[in-house]
Amino acid sequence: MDFMTMMQTRKSIRSYEDKPVSREDLLKIVEVGRLTPSACNSQPWKFIVVDEPEAKAKVYDALQCSDGHSGCTWGNQVPAFIILVEEEAKVKPAVIAHYHDSQRFAQGDIGAACMNMCHMAMELGLSTCIVGMNEQKKMEDNLGIPEGKTVRLTLAVGYGIDVNPGFVKQRKPLEEVVSFNQW
Ligand SMILES: Cc1cc2nc3c(=O)[nH]c(=O)nc-3n(C[C@H](O)[C@H](O)[C@H](O)COP(=O)(O)O)c2cc1C
Repeated sequence: MDFMTMMQTRKSIRSYEDKPVSREDLLKIVEVGRLTPSACNSQPWKFIVVDEPEAKAKVYDALQCSDGHSGCTWGNQVPAFIILVEEEAKVKPAVIAHYHDSQRFAQGDIGAACMNMCHMAMELGLSTCIVGMNEQKKMEDNLGIPEGKTVRLTLAVGYGIDVNPGFVKQRKPLEEVVSFNQW
């Protein structure tokens, strides 16, 4: 599949077959995350692959926020999760001098890694959904993530069931989001 077709047809999937994803495929997905460019090549990420039932239940629990909100009520049937944790970004002194924030680019870097992972999954015949919301404290308690290492994204991965195959991608029109040479 060419890249434009991939972009036009990829969609978030929130329903999955009861079929495991091989470790080989999960590692290929992580590998493209690892290869993703990052600010000053800081690679401010750690990827936690979760594919065992007990650990998956812990992730599902951490995706249910204690204030009652959740971006992943459907997560108890996900074959595998990959948790993207933000690590300290060792960026060049100029970045720190200018922004006074060494993590300035870390979230963007993690987002880029995550999208590359979605596309690798697609090439492998797998579906994904990025989940942004989680309860940080539960992530730390349930998975042993050190305190203060922020879980930015959780990627659900599996053989997807497209419950709405006719759905047309909803995006702002090109002319609304692009301009040339000035605002
Ligand atoms: C940073 C980010 C966070 C997201 N968080 C959630 C989430 O918590 N729950 C969910 O079901 N989908 C989540 N999504 C998926 C978006 O809802 C989805 O990408 C968007 O509606 C566009 O649909 P598409 O991916 O099918 O093209 C998230 C996507 C991104 C990029």
